[in-house]
Amino acid sequence: MGDTITLKIDGQEVRARPGMTVLEAAREAGIEIPALCHHEKMTPYGACRICSVEAEMDGKTKIVASCGYPVEPGLVIRTRSPRVDRIRKTVIELVSPQANTDGDLGGDLKKLADEYGADIHRFEARLQSKSRRCTLCGLCVRYCDEVVGAHAIGFVGRGIDRHVVFFPDKASKVCASCQGCFKICPTGKIGAEADGTYFGFTIDDFLAGRL
Ligand code: FES
Repeated sequence: MGDTITLKIDGQEVRARPGMTVLEAAREAGIEIPALCHHEKMTPYGACRICSVEAEMDGKTKIVASCGYPVEPGLVIRTRSPRVDRIRKTVIELVSPQANTDGDLGGDLKKLADEYGADIHRFEARLQSKSRRCTLCGLCVRYCDEVVGAHAIGFVGRGIDRHVVFFPDKASKVCASCQGCFKICPTGKIGAEADGTYFGFTIDDFLAGRL
């Protein structure tokens, strides 16, 4: 089959199609790689690096972000190794202070912190930022732009002041019936806490069309 690329993932021979990423090929073969800023309906973003894997080609090994790395014939991928696990643990520890609210992590991030034994308080003091339960992964913003096409949510501010807001003029027209971003937020922030303190209005406002 000329259109098939064969590579190895965790010792298993995997067949992939040209143009697929390592993450896609692995998932199609039933091999799970964690991802925070990735969604299959959107273009790879490469922001969080939680999807890092070891990629070996011609005897050389490097760490790559599997969500954006294309499959190649003969590529050897290791999704778990001491090096990969250390990177994932550190990524989780770095994003956790942003996501941690009252000592509680939400959604996928909580599961990952448990799996990799991450100390979610490790960088809290150094980052010195108010916890916002948002890792700035941009999934919600890109979902709204690329999938829904509504552009109702976006980033504002710079540096540690950067955060996500809904744009009321557009949100009032689409968000009540959509809420697609609520389901894909890896920390559960949007679905659980779309409240007056963070977004300036509540889920009830959405549903009641009061925006
Ligand atoms: S999921 Fe690959 S960099 Fe975030």
